[in-house]
Amino acid sequence: MGQALRPTADPAWLLSEVGYDPLRESSFETRVAISNGFLGLRGALATDLGACRTLPPRTYVAGLFDTALVGAPIPERLPAPDWLQLRIGLPDGPYLACPDPSSRDVTLDMRRGLLLTQIRQPPGAALDIRLSTLRLVSLDMRGIVLQLVELAVEQGMGEITLDVTSGEASPLLIPVTTEPDLGVWRTRQSGKTLAIAMDAAVVIDGRTQPPTVRTAGRWSWSLRVQAGQTVVLRRNLAVTRGDEPVDDPGGRARSDLALATGLGWRGLLERHETAWRERWDRSDVVVEGDPEAQRALRFAVFHLNGAADPGDERVSIGARALTGDDYLGHVFWDTEIFLMPFYAMTWPQAARALLTYRYRTLAAARAKAAGMGWRGALYAWESADTGDEATPAQVVGPDRKVVDILCGTQEQHVSADVAYAVWQYWQATDDTAFLLEAGAEIILETARFWWSRAGLEADGLHHIRGVIGPDEYHETVDDNAFTNVMARWNLLRGLDIAALMGERWPDRWATLSTRLDLAADELESWRRTAAAMATGLDPETGLFEQFQGYHDLEAIDLSAYAGRSVPMDVVLGRERTQASQVVKQADVVALLALLPDEFPGDADAVNFDHYAPRCGHGSSLSRALHGVAAARLGRSELALGYLRDTSAIDLGDSHVAIAGGVHIAALGGIWLVAIFGFAGLVVHSDGLSFAPRLPAGWTRLSFPVQWRGRDLVVTVDLVRNVLEATLRGGDTMVVSVGHVRRTLSVGWPIRIPLPSTPSPVAA
Ligand code: BGC
Repeated sequence: MGQALRPTADPAWLLSEVGYDPLRESSFETRVAISNGFLGLRGALATDLGACRTLPPRTYVAGLFDTALVGAPIPERLPAPDWLQLRIGLPDGPYLACPDPSSRDVTLDMRRGLLLTQIRQPPGAALDIRLSTLRLVSLDMRGIVLQLVELAVEQGMGEITLDVTSGEASPLLIPVTTEPDLGVWRTRQSGKTLAIAMDAAVVIDGRTQPPTVRTAGRWSWSLRVQAGQTVVLRRNLAVTRGDEPVDDPGGRARSDLALATGLGWRGLLERHETAWRERWDRSDVVVEGDPEAQRALRFAVFHLNGAADPGDERVSIGARALTGDDYLGHVFWDTEIFLMPFYAMTWPQAARALLTYRYRTLAAARAKAAGMGWRGALYAWESADTGDEATPAQVVGPDRKVVDILCGTQEQHVSADVAYAVWQYWQATDDTAFLLEAGAEIILETARFWWSRAGLEADGLHHIRGVIGPDEYHETVDDNAFTNVMARWNLLRGLDIAALMGERWPDRWATLSTRLDLAADELESWRRTAAAMATGLDPETGLFEQFQGYHDLEAIDLSAYAGRSVPMDVVLGRERTQASQVVKQADVVALLALLPDEFPGDADAVNFDHYAPRCGHGSSLSRALHGVAAARLGRSELALGYLRDTSAIDLGDSHVAIAGGVHIAALGGIWLVAIFGFAGLVVHSDGLSFAPRLPAGWTRLSFPVQWRGRDLVVTVDLVRNVLEATLRGGDTMVVSVGHVRRTLSVGWPIRIPLPSTPSPVAA
């Protein structure tokens, strides 16, 4: 087993931590969490730490939501009962009641998707035992977990006990089956079931030892060991979720477990590592000349690959993925805007599953719009399993005061964001089946929402009043530029879809338009709404006003607050922040990143230069979109600063705890800065174009992308001053840099010289 427990040799694939610092432990457990889109496992030590533990170990199961019995009826993702506990009893007490600061070595092996630990008992114990562990959630069979624990007895002789126990289940999980090898629970209210089947074996020097105790919740072994012996504990788990009353998750868990046990730990490990190799082959971004950026990208791509499950269309990715409790597992615009490009361009099957989740929740979005007096579909700002609005009405703010949360009713841009993601996915994949079965309906129903929402007023313009834009410091604002321009874009894409379907798939169009009761005169009315949408654009200067009246608010020089450690709304207080121009996060700049064509001429620089200094970056999502915009403006050093600051949120050894989980949207944003920003990728209908603008120090940037069934690897090589593209599969396509367009075919890599000056902003 020794080889399996040794990490990948190249340190660029590893995230390691030696020692134990209780203050940083919960952040560290987040950082080294492993997940596969269905299961997420925080990096807590398996061995019972007693009083030292900061957070209980967590196993998350995607889509396992229920609503708390008391308090606001908000669905929350329930952790599975903790199965990871292992208590090792030695002749003179428990093994590692509290680890010696220097005794522990934890390594996240990102290449292989494993968490490895090495722990050494402090000297002086009756038995000197070296403990090595390996843990994985299979990327090949997503319900399967494998844990290997190796105890090497270095010195001494004596009796040891190994206790494998299951912790308490959430009070929202009611036990249905409690057997030694199977637990089944059902949620109190949401009608879901969870099953965990377990198999464990202890082997000493090749001989399997039967457990001395084998009850539900506890398997135990008593063993006599001596120096030179190795004890191995292998534990397999099969976890299943049932969504319907007829589901038999217990039966499925048992048969999945039998399959996994049949493969043996080596077979399981091999299949898991192969699955990770394939994912890395499709997604690894390689940077030469900047090890820090390389580390940021590898970490980001690792967690992005672990966050999605292409096989589950009932779930999407929560704001902290499957790595922490924050935001209760809820799904925000984060998925569509910050994560979708990565999936659409490297893992279309995962992207499709995520968008299908939005299709499955379309009925809830329609009901939300209708309930508020509008037509079409208004997606939940916070979405859980059903798609019903899940935003809490109140929370405790950063200043510890209870504040009302209006996002659930006012932050409506999410509907346009979902439509945007559908369109991007379709452009990237040409997945017509998805468009016809689901995507078109999402775009049409969200367009219809904006049409009903944007009222025509006496000035001849359509206004959208009383919203919150991405900048959540300002509530109940009128004509938020981001919202209105995205809404207009949504209406126009709705019209495009109607025209396209009418032309190419007239029968499908006839069926869909009849079902949606979408007549030609309504479409005509959409066109008029889009044409007369208020946007706050000053045609003289090219500057958007973030919302009506924004320019009149108090201007605050944020440079005077440089180095602050709390968000600006805490520094200034809520009221003053609301009355100021301080922006929580990219808002007009987000629009610039998403729809650069809306900023002709030098309007891109005008808006960036106006809004970037006003932004307090009070959200982890903010800097990455600034980075994309800055890179496209050719300001690569500035963009690199945004990338580094974004990466520091999860990777930096800062005082800010990330116990609540990784900031998966920020991690998606890091990929966006590299690929859409520095490589300047733009998706066209006949191929891909690039406008590389690498920051100083980066000599090479290489990455794979998928485009409409093609699989290519792109390398920006500043040593040879070329962009190289190799097609690994799929039909001939066009790749262009600046004005040079080349045809790319399998077997014929191309090299396009890079322009000597940075290319203009890609259209
Ligand atoms: C941000 C939102 C984001 C949410 C979840 C909030 O603080 O303002 O834009 O969707 O966090 O990440």
